[in-house]
Amino acid sequence: CGIVGCILKNDKAAPVLLDCVQRLEYRGYDSVGLATYSSSGINIKKDRGKINEVSQKLHLDELPGEIGIGHVRWATHGLPTQENAHPHTDCEGKIAVVHNGIIENYKELKDQLVSEGHHFVSQTDTEVIAHLIEKYHKDGLDLEEAINKAITKLHGSYAFAVISTDEPNRILGVRKESPLILGLGDGEYFLASDAPAILQHTRRIIYLADHETFIMDEEGITVKDRDGRVLDKPVETIRWTPEMAQKGGYPHFMLKEIHEQPEAVRNTLFEVSDIKKIVSQFPEFKRVTFVACGTSYHASLVGKYLFEGLLGLPTDVILASEFEFSEKAIDPHALVIFISQSGETADTLKALRIANKKAKTLAIVNVLGSTATREADYVIFTRAGPEIGVAATKTYISQLTCIYLLAACMCQDEELLEELQKIPDCMKAVLSLEDEIKEMAGKYKDAQDFFFIGRGFSYPTALEGALKLKEITYIHGEGYAAGELKHGPLALIDDDVPVVAVVPPGKSHDRTLSNVQEVKARGARVIGLGSEDDPVLSSEASDMVEFPHQIPELLSPLLYVVPLQLLAYHISVQRGIDPDKPKNLAKCVTVE
Ligand code: G6P
Repeated sequence: CGIVGCILKNDKAAPVLLDCVQRLEYRGYDSVGLATYSSSGINIKKDRGKINEVSQKLHLDELPGEIGIGHVRWATHGLPTQENAHPHTDCEGKIAVVHNGIIENYKELKDQLVSEGHHFVSQTDTEVIAHLIEKYHKDGLDLEEAINKAITKLHGSYAFAVISTDEPNRILGVRKESPLILGLGDGEYFLASDAPAILQHTRRIIYLADHETFIMDEEGITVKDRDGRVLDKPVETIRWTPEMAQKGGYPHFMLKEIHEQPEAVRNTLFEVSDIKKIVSQFPEFKRVTFVACGTSYHASLVGKYLFEGLLGLPTDVILASEFEFSEKAIDPHALVIFISQSGETADTLKALRIANKKAKTLAIVNVLGSTATREADYVIFTRAGPEIGVAATKTYISQLTCIYLLAACMCQDEELLEELQKIPDCMKAVLSLEDEIKEMAGKYKDAQDFFFIGRGFSYPTALEGALKLKEITYIHGEGYAAGELKHGPLALIDDDVPVVAVVPPGKSHDRTLSNVQEVKARGARVIGLGSEDDPVLSSEASDMVEFPHQIPELLSPLLYVVPLQLLAYHISVQRGIDPDKPKNLAKCVTVE
Protein backbone atom coordinates (compact mmCIF):
# COMPACT_ATOMS: atom_id res chain seq x y z
CA CYS A 1 0.00 0.00 0.00
CA GLY A 2 1.02 3.61 -0.24
CA ILE A 3 0.00 6.67 1.76
CA VAL A 4 0.27 10.37 0.93
CA GLY A 5 -0.75 13.67 2.47
CA CYS A 6 -0.34 17.40 1.94
CA ILE A 7 -1.00 20.84 3.35
CA LEU A 8 -1.13 23.47 0.60
CA LYS A 9 -1.14 27.26 0.76
CA ASN A 10 -3.88 28.39 -1.58
CA ASP A 11 -4.67 25.38 -3.71
CA LYS A 12 -7.08 22.51 -3.37
CA ALA A 13 -5.34 19.45 -1.92
CA ALA A 14 -7.34 16.81 -3.80
CA PRO A 15 -5.78 17.17 -7.31
CA VAL A 16 -2.30 17.07 -5.73
CA LEU A 17 -3.18 14.04 -3.61
CA LEU A 18 -4.56 12.30 -6.67
CA ASP A 19 -1.35 13.00 -8.60
CA CYS A 20 0.68 11.67 -5.65
CA VAL A 21 -1.26 8.40 -5.30
CA GLN A 22 -1.03 7.86 -9.05
CA ARG A 23 2.74 7.93 -8.71
CA LEU A 24 2.53 5.25 -6.03
CA GLU A 25 0.43 2.89 -8.10
CA TYR A 26 3.32 0.40 -8.20
CA ARG A 27 2.79 -0.11 -4.44
CA GLY A 28 -0.78 -1.32 -4.90
CA TYR A 29 -3.69 -0.82 -7.19
CA ASP A 30 -6.84 -2.53 -6.00
CA SER A 31 -8.49 0.45 -4.27
CA VAL A 32 -7.92 4.16 -3.76
CA GLY A 33 -9.29 6.88 -1.51
CA LEU A 34 -8.78 10.47 -0.38
CA ALA A 35 -9.88 12.44 2.70
CA THR A 36 -9.69 16.23 2.87
CA TYR A 37 -10.62 18.73 5.52
CA SER A 38 -12.79 21.73 4.64
CA SER A 39 -15.18 24.03 6.55
CA SER A 40 -17.85 21.34 6.29
CA GLY A 41 -15.64 18.78 8.08
CA ILE A 42 -13.91 15.70 6.73
CA ASN A 43 -14.78 14.72 3.15
CA ILE A 44 -14.00 11.20 1.94
CA LYS A 45 -14.20 9.55 -1.45
CA LYS A 46 -12.95 6.03 -1.96
CA ASP A 47 -13.65 2.82 -3.83
CA ARG A 48 -12.17 -0.39 -5.14
CA GLY A 49 -10.64 -0.37 -8.60
CA LYS A 50 -7.74 1.18 -10.47
CA ILE A 51 -7.00 4.81 -9.61
CA ASN A 52 -8.07 6.15 -12.99
CA GLU A 53 -11.36 4.26 -12.96
CA VAL A 54 -12.24 5.36 -9.42
CA SER A 55 -11.16 8.91 -10.09
CA GLN A 56 -13.32 9.18 -13.21
CA LYS A 57 -16.30 7.69 -11.41
CA LEU A 58 -16.08 9.67 -8.18
CA HIS A 59 -14.29 12.85 -9.33
CA LEU A 60 -11.73 12.48 -6.56
CA ASP A 61 -10.03 15.73 -7.52
CA GLU A 62 -13.14 17.76 -6.70
CA LEU A 63 -12.95 17.25 -2.94
CA PRO A 64 -12.74 20.67 -1.24
CA GLY A 65 -10.04 21.83 1.20
CA GLU A 66 -6.32 22.51 1.31
CA ILE A 67 -5.39 19.68 3.66
CA GLY A 68 -5.76 16.00 2.98
CA ILE A 69 -4.51 12.44 3.02
CA GLY A 70 -4.70 9.66 0.44
CA HIS A 71 -4.14 5.95 0.03
CA VAL A 72 -3.60 3.39 -2.66
CA ARG A 73 -4.33 -0.12 -1.48
CA TRP A 74 -2.92 -3.57 -1.94
CA ALA A 75 -5.35 -5.58 0.15
CA THR A 76 -3.95 -7.45 3.15
CA HIS A 77 -6.80 -7.70 5.66
CA GLY A 78 -10.21 -7.64 4.04
CA LEU A 79 -11.08 -7.98 0.35
CA PRO A 80 -10.71 -5.05 -2.04
CA THR A 81 -14.13 -3.41 -1.51
CA GLN A 82 -15.39 0.11 -1.03
CA GLU A 83 -15.76 -0.36 2.75
CA ASN A 84 -12.22 -1.70 3.06
CA ALA A 85 -10.65 1.09 0.99
CA HIS A 86 -8.85 3.77 3.03
CA PRO A 87 -9.21 6.37 4.54
CA HIS A 88 -10.92 4.83 7.59
CA THR A 89 -12.71 6.84 10.23
CA ASP A 90 -13.84 6.66 13.85
CA CYS A 91 -17.53 6.24 14.79
CA GLU A 92 -18.39 9.89 14.18
CA GLY A 93 -16.35 10.51 11.06
CA LYS A 94 -14.24 13.10 12.89
CA ILE A 95 -10.92 11.28 12.55
CA ALA A 96 -9.62 9.90 9.23
CA VAL A 97 -6.63 7.57 8.92
CA VAL A 98 -4.56 6.18 6.05
CA HIS A 99 -2.19 3.34 6.91
CA ASN A 100 0.46 1.18 5.28
CA GLY A 101 1.61 -1.93 7.13
CA ILE A 102 0.05 -4.69 9.16
CA ILE A 103 -1.49 -4.39 12.63
CA GLU A 104 -0.81 -7.88 13.90
CA ASN A 105 -3.05 -7.75 16.98
CA TYR A 106 -5.98 -5.98 15.32
CA LYS A 107 -8.47 -8.74 16.07
CA GLU A 108 -7.94 -8.51 19.84
CA LEU A 109 -8.06 -4.71 19.69
CA LYS A 110 -11.20 -4.76 17.56
CA ASP A 111 -12.99 -7.19 19.92
CA GLN A 112 -12.13 -4.95 22.85
CA LEU A 113 -13.30 -1.78 21.07
CA VAL A 114 -16.52 -3.45 19.88
CA SER A 115 -17.26 -4.54 23.46
CA GLU A 116 -16.85 -0.88 24.45
CA GLY A 117 -19.47 0.17 21.89
CA HIS A 118 -17.37 1.07 18.84
CA HIS A 119 -19.00 0.30 15.52
CA PHE A 120 -16.79 -1.00 12.72
CA VAL A 121 -17.68 -0.91 9.04
CA SER A 122 -14.69 -2.65 7.41
CA GLN A 123 -12.70 -5.86 7.75
CA THR A 124 -9.38 -4.02 7.75
CA ASP A 125 -6.77 -3.90 10.47
CA THR A 126 -6.48 -0.13 9.89
CA GLU A 127 -9.91 0.77 11.22
CA VAL A 128 -8.79 -0.09 14.78
CA ILE A 129 -6.29 2.78 14.59
CA ALA A 130 -9.08 5.35 14.02
CA HIS A 131 -11.18 3.91 16.83
CA LEU A 132 -8.29 3.66 19.29
CA ILE A 133 -7.42 7.31 18.68
CA GLU A 134 -11.11 8.24 19.09
CA LYS A 135 -11.26 6.37 22.39
CA TYR A 136 -8.25 8.12 23.91
CA HIS A 137 -9.28 11.48 22.46
CA LYS A 138 -12.67 11.13 24.16
CA ASP A 139 -10.86 10.30 27.40
CA GLY A 140 -9.54 13.87 27.28
CA LEU A 141 -6.22 13.52 25.47
CA ASP A 142 -5.42 15.85 22.59
CA LEU A 143 -4.88 14.32 19.17
CA GLU A 144 -1.12 13.94 19.53
CA GLU A 145 -1.43 12.35 22.97
CA ALA A 146 -4.21 10.06 21.75
CA ILE A 147 -2.05 8.88 18.84
CA ASN A 148 0.90 8.32 21.15
CA LYS A 149 -1.24 6.25 23.46
CA ALA A 150 -2.79 4.31 20.55
CA ILE A 151 0.63 3.27 19.24
CA THR A 152 1.55 1.73 22.57
CA LYS A 153 -1.26 -0.77 21.88
CA LEU A 154 -0.37 -1.61 18.27
CA HIS A 155 1.80 -4.60 17.37
CA GLY A 156 3.10 -4.96 13.86
CA SER A 157 4.36 -2.57 11.25
CA TYR A 158 2.83 0.73 10.33
CA ALA A 159 3.15 4.14 8.79
CA PHE A 160 -0.02 6.14 9.17
CA ALA A 161 -1.33 9.68 8.87
CA VAL A 162 -4.33 11.20 10.61
CA ILE A 163 -6.54 14.25 10.14
CA SER A 164 -9.25 15.32 12.58
CA THR A 165 -12.01 17.91 12.69
CA ASP A 166 -11.02 18.73 16.28
CA GLU A 167 -7.53 19.88 15.21
CA PRO A 168 -8.33 20.77 11.65
CA ASN A 169 -5.22 22.43 10.32
CA ARG A 170 -2.71 19.67 10.86
CA ILE A 171 -1.73 16.18 9.81
CA LEU A 172 -0.16 13.87 12.37
CA GLY A 173 1.47 10.51 11.88
CA VAL A 174 4.08 7.94 12.83
CA ARG A 175 6.31 5.31 11.32
CA LYS A 176 7.35 1.86 12.54
CA GLU A 177 8.90 -0.61 10.08
CA SER A 178 6.93 0.76 7.11
CA PRO A 179 8.46 3.54 5.05
CA LEU A 180 7.44 7.17 5.47
CA ILE A 181 8.98 10.39 4.21
CA LEU A 182 8.07 14.03 4.65
CA GLY A 183 8.54 16.73 2.00
CA LEU A 184 9.16 20.44 2.45
CA GLY A 185 7.85 22.71 -0.29
CA ASP A 186 7.53 26.48 -0.37
CA GLY A 187 5.20 26.95 2.61
CA GLU A 188 3.60 23.65 1.60
CA TYR A 189 4.19 20.26 3.19
CA PHE A 190 3.86 16.67 2.04
CA LEU A 191 4.09 13.11 3.28
CA ALA A 192 4.33 9.82 1.39
CA SER A 193 5.37 6.19 1.66
CA ASP A 194 7.97 6.78 -1.02
CA ALA A 195 9.69 9.78 -2.57
CA PRO A 196 8.36 9.36 -6.14
CA ALA A 197 4.90 10.33 -4.91
CA ILE A 198 5.95 13.89 -4.17
CA LEU A 199 9.00 14.61 -6.35
CA GLN A 200 6.82 16.72 -8.67
CA HIS A 201 6.20 19.06 -5.74
CA THR A 202 9.45 19.04 -3.78
CA ARG A 203 12.83 17.36 -3.71
CA ARG A 204 13.56 18.34 -0.10
CA ILE A 205 12.88 15.25 1.97
CA ILE A 206 13.03 14.22 5.63
CA TYR A 207 13.32 10.48 6.21
CA LEU A 208 11.48 9.34 9.31
CA ALA A 209 13.07 6.56 11.37
CA ASP A 210 11.16 3.89 13.30
CA HIS A 211 9.07 5.20 16.21
CA GLU A 212 9.34 8.81 15.09
CA THR A 213 6.13 10.85 14.98
CA PHE A 214 5.38 14.03 13.06
CA ILE A 215 3.02 16.95 13.22
CA MET A 216 2.57 19.00 10.07
CA ASP A 217 0.72 22.31 9.84
CA GLU A 218 0.96 25.47 7.75
CA GLU A 219 3.89 26.67 9.89
CA GLY A 220 6.06 23.62 9.18
CA ILE A 221 6.87 20.10 10.33
CA THR A 222 7.86 18.92 13.82
CA VAL A 223 9.38 15.46 14.24
CA LYS A 224 9.64 13.82 17.66
CA ASP A 225 11.23 10.64 18.98
CA ARG A 226 9.31 7.99 20.92
CA ASP A 227 9.90 9.89 24.16
CA GLY A 228 8.38 13.07 22.75
CA ARG A 229 11.67 14.97 22.31
CA VAL A 230 11.73 17.29 19.29
CA LEU A 231 14.36 16.16 16.79
CA ASP A 232 16.46 18.26 14.47
CA LYS A 233 16.07 16.06 11.38
CA PRO A 234 18.33 16.59 8.39
CA VAL A 235 16.66 17.64 5.14
CA GLU A 236 18.02 15.78 2.13
CA THR A 237 17.72 16.82 -1.48
CA ILE A 238 16.77 13.98 -3.79
CA ARG A 239 18.35 13.96 -7.21
CA TRP A 240 16.63 10.86 -8.59
CA THR A 241 14.37 11.14 -11.59
CA PRO A 242 10.77 10.14 -10.78
CA GLU A 243 11.34 6.85 -12.62
CA MET A 244 14.46 6.04 -10.59
CA ALA A 245 12.64 7.00 -7.43
CA GLN A 246 9.77 4.60 -8.21
CA LYS A 247 12.36 1.89 -8.17
CA GLY A 248 13.68 3.12 -4.82
CA GLY A 249 16.89 4.25 -6.52
CA TYR A 250 17.51 0.79 -8.02
CA PRO A 251 17.91 0.63 -11.78
CA HIS A 252 15.23 -2.07 -12.11
CA PHE A 253 12.19 -3.26 -10.19
CA MET A 254 13.67 -6.77 -10.13
CA LEU A 255 16.74 -5.61 -8.20
CA LYS A 256 14.55 -3.60 -5.83
CA GLU A 257 12.36 -6.63 -5.26
CA ILE A 258 15.38 -8.89 -4.63
CA HIS A 259 16.48 -6.44 -1.94
CA GLU A 260 12.98 -6.30 -0.46
CA GLN A 261 13.12 -10.02 0.34
CA PRO A 262 14.15 -9.73 4.01
CA GLU A 263 11.13 -7.47 4.53
CA ALA A 264 8.89 -9.84 2.57
CA VAL A 265 9.93 -12.71 4.87
CA ARG A 266 9.41 -10.57 7.96
CA ASN A 267 5.91 -9.54 6.85
CA THR A 268 4.97 -13.08 5.88
CA LEU A 269 6.10 -14.39 9.28
CA PHE A 270 3.31 -12.26 10.78
CA GLU A 271 0.90 -14.74 9.19
CA VAL A 272 1.77 -17.40 11.75
CA SER A 273 -1.28 -16.79 13.94
CA ASP A 274 -3.67 -17.02 10.96
CA ILE A 275 -1.91 -20.19 9.81
CA LYS A 276 -2.22 -21.75 13.27
CA LYS A 277 -5.96 -21.07 13.15
CA ILE A 278 -6.33 -22.63 9.71
CA VAL A 279 -4.35 -25.69 10.76
CA SER A 280 -6.60 -26.13 13.82
CA GLN A 281 -9.56 -26.52 11.42
CA PHE A 282 -7.89 -29.22 9.31
CA PRO A 283 -9.35 -32.70 9.29
CA GLU A 284 -6.76 -35.46 9.35
CA PHE A 285 -4.95 -35.57 6.01
CA LYS A 286 -3.29 -38.69 4.63
CA ARG A 287 -1.28 -36.94 1.96
CA VAL A 288 -0.43 -33.56 0.52
CA THR A 289 -0.48 -32.63 -3.16
CA PHE A 290 1.04 -29.37 -4.33
CA VAL A 291 -0.09 -27.87 -7.65
CA ALA A 292 1.50 -24.82 -9.30
CA CYS A 293 3.30 -23.38 -12.36
CA GLY A 294 6.69 -21.80 -12.94
CA THR A 295 8.46 -20.41 -9.91
CA SER A 296 5.50 -21.35 -7.71
CA TYR A 297 6.10 -24.96 -8.78
CA HIS A 298 9.65 -24.73 -7.46
CA ALA A 299 8.36 -23.42 -4.13
CA SER A 300 6.03 -26.43 -4.09
CA LEU A 301 8.98 -28.79 -4.56
CA VAL A 302 10.60 -27.39 -1.42
CA GLY A 303 7.26 -28.16 0.23
CA LYS A 304 7.61 -31.81 -0.73
CA TYR A 305 10.97 -32.18 1.03
CA LEU A 306 9.58 -30.36 4.05
CA PHE A 307 6.28 -32.20 4.39
CA GLU A 308 7.84 -35.60 3.82
CA GLY A 309 10.86 -34.83 6.01
CA LEU A 310 9.09 -33.15 8.91
CA LEU A 311 5.62 -34.66 8.84
CA GLY A 312 6.22 -37.98 7.11
CA LEU A 313 3.23 -37.19 4.90
CA PRO A 314 3.45 -38.58 1.36
CA THR A 315 3.63 -35.48 -0.85
CA ASP A 316 3.25 -35.09 -4.59
CA VAL A 317 4.02 -32.03 -6.64
CA ILE A 318 2.12 -31.70 -9.90
CA LEU A 319 2.42 -29.03 -12.58
CA ALA A 320 -0.96 -27.31 -12.85
CA SER A 321 -1.05 -27.84 -16.62
CA GLU A 322 -0.63 -31.61 -16.06
CA PHE A 323 -3.05 -31.94 -13.18
CA GLU A 324 -6.12 -32.95 -15.19
CA PHE A 325 -4.37 -36.20 -16.09
CA SER A 326 -4.25 -37.15 -12.39
CA GLU A 327 -7.90 -36.37 -11.73
CA LYS A 328 -8.93 -39.97 -11.10
CA ALA A 329 -6.11 -40.46 -8.60
CA ILE A 330 -7.01 -37.51 -6.34
CA ASP A 331 -7.18 -38.85 -2.81
CA PRO A 332 -10.25 -37.50 -0.94
CA HIS A 333 -8.13 -37.50 2.21
CA ALA A 334 -5.46 -35.31 0.63
CA LEU A 335 -4.87 -31.63 1.24
CA VAL A 336 -4.34 -30.14 -2.23
CA ILE A 337 -2.24 -26.98 -1.96
CA PHE A 338 -2.27 -24.47 -4.81
CA ILE A 339 0.57 -21.99 -4.93
CA SER A 340 0.21 -18.92 -7.09
CA GLN A 341 1.61 -15.41 -6.84
CA SER A 342 -1.26 -13.91 -8.85
CA GLY A 343 -4.08 -16.29 -7.92
CA GLU A 344 -5.16 -15.93 -11.55
CA THR A 345 -2.98 -18.35 -13.54
CA ALA A 346 -5.40 -20.19 -15.85
CA ASP A 347 -3.81 -23.64 -15.50
CA THR A 348 -3.77 -23.35 -11.72
CA LEU A 349 -7.41 -22.24 -11.55
CA LYS A 350 -8.49 -25.09 -13.80
CA ALA A 351 -6.69 -27.58 -11.55
CA LEU A 352 -8.20 -25.96 -8.45
CA ARG A 353 -11.71 -26.44 -9.86
CA ILE A 354 -10.97 -30.11 -10.53
CA ALA A 355 -9.54 -30.66 -7.05
CA ASN A 356 -12.38 -28.81 -5.32
CA LYS A 357 -14.77 -31.57 -6.36
CA LYS A 358 -12.77 -34.25 -4.63
CA ALA A 359 -10.67 -32.96 -1.73
CA LYS A 360 -9.95 -30.05 0.58
CA THR A 361 -8.01 -27.28 -1.13
CA LEU A 362 -5.69 -24.60 0.21
CA ALA A 363 -4.44 -21.63 -1.84
CA ILE A 364 -1.22 -19.79 -0.99
CA VAL A 365 -1.53 -16.51 -2.87
CA ASN A 366 -0.07 -13.00 -2.94
CA VAL A 367 -3.13 -11.17 -4.27
CA LEU A 368 -6.03 -10.84 -1.88
CA GLY A 369 -9.39 -11.13 -3.58
CA SER A 370 -7.93 -12.99 -6.59
CA THR A 371 -9.92 -15.87 -8.06
CA ALA A 372 -7.95 -18.61 -6.27
CA THR A 373 -8.65 -17.00 -2.90
CA ARG A 374 -12.37 -17.03 -3.59
CA GLU A 375 -12.52 -20.65 -4.69
CA ALA A 376 -10.21 -22.59 -2.35
CA ASP A 377 -11.41 -24.00 0.99
CA TYR A 378 -8.54 -22.41 2.90
CA VAL A 379 -6.37 -19.42 2.00
CA ILE A 380 -2.99 -18.22 3.23
CA PHE A 381 -1.49 -14.94 2.08
CA THR A 382 2.10 -14.31 1.22
CA ARG A 383 2.94 -10.77 2.26
CA ALA A 384 5.38 -9.83 -0.49
CA GLY A 385 3.48 -6.74 -1.66
CA PRO A 386 3.04 -6.11 -5.38
CA GLU A 387 5.75 -7.58 -7.58
CA ILE A 388 6.37 -5.68 -10.81
CA GLY A 389 9.36 -7.54 -12.30
CA VAL A 390 8.12 -10.39 -14.50
CA ALA A 391 10.61 -12.85 -13.00
CA ALA A 392 9.31 -13.81 -9.56
CA THR A 393 11.74 -13.16 -6.69
CA LYS A 394 10.22 -11.82 -3.47
CA THR A 395 6.97 -13.69 -4.06
CA TYR A 396 8.95 -16.97 -4.29
CA ILE A 397 10.67 -16.23 -0.99
CA SER A 398 7.31 -15.37 0.61
CA GLN A 399 5.75 -18.57 -0.74
CA LEU A 400 8.61 -20.55 0.79
CA THR A 401 8.11 -18.70 4.08
CA CYS A 402 4.41 -19.66 4.09
CA ILE A 403 5.22 -23.29 3.34
CA TYR A 404 7.73 -23.44 6.20
CA LEU A 405 5.21 -21.78 8.53
CA LEU A 406 2.52 -24.23 7.48
CA ALA A 407 4.74 -27.27 7.99
CA ALA A 408 5.98 -25.93 11.34
CA CYS A 409 2.40 -25.27 12.51
CA MET A 410 1.20 -28.68 11.34
CA CYS A 411 3.86 -30.48 13.36
CA GLN A 412 3.94 -27.90 16.16
CA ASP A 413 7.65 -27.36 15.73
CA GLU A 414 8.29 -24.24 17.84
CA GLU A 415 12.04 -24.52 17.27
CA LEU A 416 11.56 -24.20 13.51
CA LEU A 417 9.29 -21.19 14.03
CA GLU A 418 12.08 -19.57 16.03
CA GLU A 419 14.71 -20.42 13.43
CA LEU A 420 12.59 -18.75 10.76
CA GLN A 421 12.76 -15.48 12.66
CA LYS A 422 16.50 -15.37 11.94
CA ILE A 423 16.08 -15.58 8.17
CA PRO A 424 15.58 -11.85 7.43
CA ASP A 425 18.95 -10.93 8.98
CA CYS A 426 20.77 -13.86 7.35
CA MET A 427 19.26 -12.80 4.04
CA LYS A 428 20.59 -9.28 4.47
CA ALA A 429 24.06 -10.79 4.93
CA VAL A 430 23.64 -12.78 1.71
CA LEU A 431 22.49 -9.67 -0.17
CA SER A 432 25.66 -7.90 0.92
CA LEU A 433 27.57 -10.29 -1.39
CA GLU A 434 26.10 -8.54 -4.42
CA ASP A 435 29.33 -6.90 -5.60
CA GLU A 436 31.11 -10.27 -5.74
CA ILE A 437 28.23 -11.80 -7.67
CA LYS A 438 28.16 -8.90 -10.10
CA GLU A 439 31.83 -9.49 -10.82
CA MET A 440 31.15 -13.20 -11.28
CA ALA A 441 28.38 -12.33 -13.75
CA GLY A 442 30.98 -10.55 -15.86
CA LYS A 443 33.07 -13.73 -16.11
CA TYR A 444 30.19 -16.00 -17.13
CA LYS A 445 27.90 -13.77 -19.16
CA ASP A 446 29.00 -15.11 -22.53
CA ALA A 447 28.37 -18.79 -21.79
CA GLN A 448 25.66 -20.38 -23.94
CA ASP A 449 24.62 -23.15 -21.56
CA PHE A 450 24.63 -23.51 -17.81
CA PHE A 451 23.83 -26.40 -15.50
CA PHE A 452 22.54 -25.91 -11.98
CA ILE A 453 22.78 -28.92 -9.68
CA GLY A 454 21.62 -29.75 -6.16
CA ARG A 455 20.15 -32.60 -4.13
CA GLY A 456 17.27 -32.75 -1.69
CA PHE A 457 16.41 -29.27 -0.47
CA SER A 458 18.89 -27.84 -2.95
CA TYR A 459 17.29 -29.44 -6.00
CA PRO A 460 14.41 -26.91 -6.21
CA THR A 461 16.98 -24.14 -5.69
CA ALA A 462 18.92 -25.44 -8.70
CA LEU A 463 15.73 -25.49 -10.79
CA GLU A 464 14.79 -21.97 -9.75
CA GLY A 465 18.32 -20.67 -10.42
CA ALA A 466 18.14 -22.12 -13.93
CA LEU A 467 14.67 -20.68 -14.53
CA LYS A 468 15.78 -17.18 -13.47
CA LEU A 469 18.74 -17.43 -15.86
CA LYS A 470 16.55 -18.53 -18.79
CA GLU A 471 13.86 -15.95 -18.16
CA ILE A 472 15.97 -12.83 -18.06
CA THR A 473 19.31 -13.60 -19.79
CA TYR A 474 18.07 -15.83 -22.64
CA ILE A 475 20.92 -18.21 -21.84
CA HIS A 476 20.00 -21.87 -21.76
CA GLY A 477 20.08 -22.96 -18.13
CA GLU A 478 19.18 -26.42 -16.96
CA GLY A 479 18.45 -27.38 -13.37
CA TYR A 480 19.23 -30.99 -12.52
CA ALA A 481 19.09 -33.28 -9.53
CA ALA A 482 22.82 -33.73 -8.98
CA GLY A 483 22.49 -37.53 -8.87
CA GLU A 484 20.95 -37.57 -12.36
CA LEU A 485 23.94 -35.94 -14.02
CA LYS A 486 25.53 -39.26 -14.79
CA HIS A 487 22.34 -40.42 -16.56
CA GLY A 488 22.71 -38.06 -19.49
CA PRO A 489 23.80 -34.48 -19.02
CA LEU A 490 27.40 -35.39 -18.25
CA ALA A 491 27.73 -35.92 -22.02
CA LEU A 492 27.18 -32.19 -22.49
CA ILE A 493 29.70 -30.96 -19.94
CA ASP A 494 32.92 -29.36 -21.14
CA ASP A 495 34.89 -26.21 -20.46
CA ASP A 496 32.24 -24.04 -22.17
CA VAL A 497 29.49 -25.11 -19.79
CA PRO A 498 29.61 -23.55 -16.32
CA VAL A 499 28.03 -25.60 -13.54
CA VAL A 500 26.42 -23.88 -10.56
CA ALA A 501 26.53 -26.31 -7.63
CA VAL A 502 24.27 -25.75 -4.62
CA VAL A 503 26.13 -27.53 -1.81
CA PRO A 504 25.04 -26.50 1.70
CA PRO A 505 26.43 -28.52 4.61
CA GLY A 506 24.20 -31.46 5.57
CA LYS A 507 22.92 -34.77 4.32
CA SER A 508 23.39 -34.05 0.62
CA HIS A 509 26.77 -32.36 0.90
CA ASP A 510 29.28 -35.12 0.23
CA ARG A 511 27.48 -36.65 -2.71
CA THR A 512 26.94 -33.32 -4.46
CA LEU A 513 30.60 -32.58 -3.84
CA SER A 514 31.47 -35.79 -5.75
CA ASN A 515 29.35 -34.52 -8.63
CA VAL A 516 31.30 -31.26 -8.53
CA GLN A 517 34.49 -33.28 -8.89
CA GLU A 518 32.99 -35.21 -11.83
CA VAL A 519 32.07 -32.09 -13.79
CA LYS A 520 35.40 -30.49 -12.97
CA ALA A 521 37.19 -33.51 -14.35
CA ARG A 522 35.36 -32.80 -17.65
CA GLY A 523 36.62 -29.25 -17.72
CA ALA A 524 33.61 -27.36 -16.35
CA ARG A 525 34.05 -24.14 -14.43
CA VAL A 526 32.14 -24.54 -11.17
CA ILE A 527 30.39 -21.79 -9.23
CA GLY A 528 30.03 -23.28 -5.74
CA LEU A 529 27.38 -22.17 -3.24
CA GLY A 530 28.33 -23.47 0.17
CA SER A 531 29.31 -22.83 3.73
CA GLU A 532 32.03 -20.34 4.59
CA ASP A 533 33.99 -23.19 6.15
CA ASP A 534 33.96 -25.68 3.32
CA PRO A 535 37.60 -25.80 2.18
CA VAL A 536 37.05 -28.75 -0.16
CA LEU A 537 34.25 -27.07 -2.09
CA SER A 538 36.22 -23.78 -2.17
CA SER A 539 39.24 -25.52 -3.62
CA GLU A 540 37.18 -27.34 -6.30
CA ALA A 541 35.13 -24.29 -7.30
CA SER A 542 36.39 -21.66 -9.74
CA ASP A 543 34.16 -19.18 -7.90
CA MET A 544 32.53 -19.51 -4.56
CA VAL A 545 29.56 -17.85 -2.83
CA GLU A 546 30.01 -18.35 0.91
CA PHE A 547 27.12 -18.60 3.38
CA PRO A 548 27.24 -18.42 7.17
CA HIS A 549 27.94 -21.90 8.52
CA GLN A 550 25.05 -22.01 10.98
CA ILE A 551 22.29 -22.20 8.34
CA PRO A 552 20.73 -25.66 8.57
CA GLU A 553 20.21 -27.53 5.29
CA LEU A 554 16.45 -27.55 5.93
CA LEU A 555 16.33 -23.75 5.74
CA SER A 556 18.90 -23.35 2.97
CA PRO A 557 16.31 -22.90 0.14
CA LEU A 558 15.31 -19.55 1.67
CA LEU A 559 18.84 -18.21 1.35
CA TYR A 560 20.71 -20.12 -1.35
CA VAL A 561 18.40 -18.93 -4.11
CA VAL A 562 19.23 -15.26 -3.48
CA PRO A 563 22.69 -15.24 -5.12
CA LEU A 564 21.20 -17.11 -8.08
CA GLN A 565 18.61 -14.35 -8.55
CA LEU A 566 21.42 -11.80 -8.37
CA LEU A 567 23.59 -13.77 -10.80
CA ALA A 568 20.77 -13.93 -13.37
CA TYR A 569 19.99 -10.25 -12.82
CA HIS A 570 23.57 -9.07 -13.35
CA ILE A 571 24.15 -11.31 -16.35
CA SER A 572 20.94 -9.94 -17.85
CA VAL A 573 22.00 -6.32 -17.36
CA GLN A 574 25.53 -6.99 -18.63
CA ARG A 575 24.04 -8.56 -21.76
CA GLY A 576 22.02 -5.39 -22.35
CA ILE A 577 18.63 -6.93 -21.55
CA ASP A 578 15.88 -5.27 -19.53
CA PRO A 579 15.34 -7.84 -16.74
CA ASP A 580 11.99 -6.33 -15.78
CA LYS A 581 10.47 -7.09 -19.16
CA PRO A 582 11.83 -10.31 -20.66
CA LYS A 583 10.68 -11.05 -24.18
CA ASN A 584 7.72 -13.39 -24.74
CA LEU A 585 6.90 -13.67 -21.03
CA ALA A 586 4.02 -12.30 -18.99
CA LYS A 587 3.71 -11.73 -15.27
CA CYS A 588 0.41 -13.53 -15.16
CA VAL A 589 -0.64 -16.15 -17.70
CA THR A 590 -4.42 -16.23 -17.96
CA VAL A 591 -4.63 -18.62 -20.91
CA GLU A 592 -4.25 -22.40 -20.78
C1 G6P B 1 4.27 -16.72 -15.17
C2 G6P B 1 5.30 -15.84 -14.50
C3 G6P B 1 6.14 -16.65 -13.52
C4 G6P B 1 5.25 -17.36 -12.52
C5 G6P B 1 4.19 -18.21 -13.22
C6 G6P B 1 3.15 -18.72 -12.25
O1 G6P B 1 4.91 -17.62 -16.01
O2 G6P B 1 6.12 -15.23 -15.47
O3 G6P B 1 7.04 -15.79 -12.82
O4 G6P B 1 6.03 -18.16 -11.68
O5 G6P B 1 3.49 -17.44 -14.20
O6 G6P B 1 2.42 -17.62 -11.78
P1 G6P B 1 1.60 -17.59 -10.45
O7 G6P B 1 0.98 -16.23 -10.41
O8 G6P B 1 0.53 -18.66 -10.56
O9 G6P B 1 2.52 -17.86 -9.32
